[in-house]
Amino acid sequence: MSPRLESLNRPERYPLASTYDPAWVVSLDMGPHPLWQLEDLLPDLALEPGQKVLDLGCGKGATSVFLARECDVDVVAFDLWTGEDELRANLDAMGVADRVTVMRGSARDLPFDDDEFDAIVSVDAFEYFGTDVHLLPGLLRVLKPFGRLGDHHTSPARGPLPGPPSRMRHSPLRLGSSGLARSRLVGDPLAAQRPRRQRPRTHASRRG
Ligand SMILES: C[S@@+](CC[C@H](N)C(=O)[O-])C[C@H]1O[C@@H](n2cnc3c(N)ncnc32)[C@H](O)[C@@H]1O
Repeated sequence: MSPRLESLNRPERYPLASTYDPAWVVSLDMGPHPLWQLEDLLPDLALEPGQKVLDLGCGKGATSVFLARECDVDVVAFDLWTGEDELRANLDAMGVADRVTVMRGSARDLPFDDDEFDAIVSVDAFEYFGTDVHLLPGLLRVLKPFGRLGDHHTSPARGPLPGPPSRMRHSPLRLGSSGLARSRLVGDPLAAQRPRRQRPRTHASRRG
């Protein structure tokens, strides 16, 4: 394996992603390592087997494969640019076609029922449509109450793949050495509507 491909194996940092052949990941490549980004999101998403997850802007399907295999969830792989046939072939080749439904369309006009998804995941795609003021209401419509919304997108600083355009270098998302932005939109969008839980007092919270 070439040193560049070998460098995509980081089992100590990404134990799940590192079980995938780096050559396969690169063959579906549309940006910095999508499985690293998704593995970073997983703890916040707290997915449970059997849940239904929208992979928004799934590209060529690497993250949909990962979700189906590692989290045992049913996935809708939804993307604007990638053709359905290509996406389906990628999923078939990885043996997850029965867990993943392929749909082509735009995040700006989601063809789903209200409360259809337990979680929405978007890896390295939100920046293509996230500025649309109608987007968030649209996502909340298709997300179940107390569902999870997780976005991870690439750092403008540096990453395993060629660097970003210089105009992005001043973004507040610029982060440290991994080259990947931490999740910025992970969370429960309906948390504010829930009764506030009593938090245990910690040493830090007692100070002032
Ligand atoms: C950089 S690629 C990332 C793909 C994949 N998530 C990954 O990490 O490999 C960005 C993706 O966003 C998708 N995209 C752009 N605009 C979109 C929109 N309005 N609705 C749905 N997907 C969109 C593109 O089709 C593309 O596949």
